[in-house]
Amino acid sequence: MIGASGFGREVLDVVDALVAAGTRPGLRLVGVVDDAPSAENLARLARRGAAYLGTLEDWLGRDDGSAYVVGIGDPGVRGRVVTRCDEAGRPALTLVHPTATAGFGVRHGAGTVVCAGVQVSTEVVLGRHVHLNPNATVGHDSVLGDLVSVNPGAIVSGACVIGDGSLIGAGSVVLQQRRVGAGAVVGAAACVTRDVAPGATVRGVPAR
Ligand SMILES: CC(C)(COP(=O)(O)OP(=O)(O)OC[C@H]1O[C@@H](n2cnc3c(N)ncnc32)[C@H](O)[C@@H]1OP(=O)(O)O)[C@@H](O)C(=O)NCCC(=O)NCCS
Repeated sequence: MIGASGFGREVLDVVDALVAAGTRPGLRLVGVVDDAPSAENLARLARRGAAYLGTLEDWLGRDDGSAYVVGIGDPGVRGRVVTRCDEAGRPALTLVHPTATAGFGVRHGAGTVVCAGVQVSTEVVLGRHVHLNPNATVGHDSVLGDLVSVNPGAIVSGACVIGDGSLIGAGSVVLQQRRVGAGAVVGAAACVTRDVAPGATVRGVPAR
């Protein structure tokens, strides 16, 4: 697991829940990789018995046969780490918490993490390395690109298209059929009533 900060350790909770549920035979945490973990986060890892494995390059230099998942919330930083792991030929793991629900025909891209309480509706397509934070909802037929983050409690309504690397802030709502461009940021608690241009940051109700 790459990233010792907040979301990274939430990903460890997903791993723990899957191991406890026994639905992913062979799944085991080898340890946590981080280029610059704070002393506080190292103490938090130690408290839960998660080994710290050193920097990304340390881990890539040791071919221990393990697969990876990136627990870094920022889509841009996550993308850079994924590019490096791809170059090194490391396989990505997909993790879905046992309490998350998924409708018919949902597709999860490699490296995607789905946290506790998430509801993914029917025929949703999730790209690679998407993060769905606790209690997020994704409506029917929506398509989320690679490296999208949907923060806690956000609602992406039906038939939306969410571009690569965009961040949907906590508690926000994207109305049905809206398109959020690549690299855009939707502020916490915003309501997206119109399409959002690539790279734009919008906030408020209605979001501007
Ligand atoms: C919208 C957002 C991207 C703006 O970030 P920023 O550019 O760093 O904004 P700042 O904190 O400098 O605030 C700039 C102004 O926007 C306002 N603002 C910040 N976030 C806002 C939001 N979500 N809704 C409405 N106004 C917001 C601030 O009050 C401030 O207003 P002021 O200039 O009148 O004082 C960010 O605040 C946000 O909401 N990100 C999503 C965070 C999230 O989902 N967190 C959960 C993590 S699990």
